[in-house]
Amino acid sequence: MSEPLIEVTGIGKTYGSVIALRDVSTVVRPGEVTCVLGDNGAGKSTLIKILAGVHQHDSGEFRVEGEPVRFTSPRDALDRGIATVYQDLAVVPLMSVWRNFFLGSEPTRGFGPFRLLDRRKGRTTTKRALADMGIDLRDVEQPVGTLSGGERQCVAIARAVYFGAKVLILDEPTAALGVKQAGVVLKYVAQARDRGLGVVLITHNPHHAYPVGDRFLLLKRGAALGGYEKSEIDLPELTRQMAGGAELAALEHELRSMESA
Ligand SMILES: Nc1ncnc2c1ncn2[C@@H]1O[C@H](COP(=O)(O)OP(=O)(O)OP(=O)(O)O)[C@@H](O)[C@H]1O
Ligand SMILES: [Mg+2]
Repeated sequence: MSEPLIEVTGIGKTYGSVIALRDVSTVVRPGEVTCVLGDNGAGKSTLIKILAGVHQHDSGEFRVEGEPVRFTSPRDALDRGIATVYQDLAVVPLMSVWRNFFLGSEPTRGFGPFRLLDRRKGRTTTKRALADMGIDLRDVEQPVGTLSGGERQCVAIARAVYFGAKVLILDEPTAALGVKQAGVVLKYVAQARDRGLGVVLITHNPHHAYPVGDRFLLLKRGAALGGYEKSEIDLPELTRQMAGGAELAALEHELRSMESA
């Protein structure tokens, strides 16, 4: 099996007196998708913020390609090839698709004070990078704000692939999407995986995670409820674990006794 791109072992994080994450371990391998599942407040975003260099862990070990790391900024993570697509996508809505694609690294031509933004190159490169991922946008000159949520996620994924990310982290990319659009985004997640990237997919939805996932980490109130390879768990069981099977039964019982009271 290939060496992990990312390996976290017994990682923990507190915000003041709040224990956001406790003793969590998982791996991210090239060409595989690691899914992080859990309810609101489970610690999913906290975990990926540590991987992305936004926060630092207080305990445990975080290794990138075998080397222990402690990032002090998102730049550190990017320099190690870890790209994160946040749910609220930091895009400039009125700027064109291709300008957003290059944001901060626009192609130029000429030298020194004569450097000019190379619009043509920007447009064709963006179009090609999107086409490579099978994304067909009518016009890369259209403002990003006119794209659907799913299309924006796809552009962000293509961007990470184009700029050479090794690890792609997606925080709930399908949360706000309809069934069809969620399917499209998951297709590009699979494409990034097939190109050899290690993907971390955060979601509430086991039906989104299961088809693309190789490994599933279930979080609950900051702790790992379980970690499974795909061969160890099926979709019904994953769904049951997510729903907190026993707890749901207890809640049902409670609601019923309230009714009869
Ligand atoms: N900056 C912060 N300061 C204090 N507490 C925080 C901070 N960020 C998160 N928390 C707390 O840590 C816990 C885990 O939060 P986290 O955002 O990681 O959950 P999540 O699984 O991403 O939830 P959601 O599904 O709602 O996005 C929560 O109890 C939350 O209130
Ligand atoms: Mg979150």
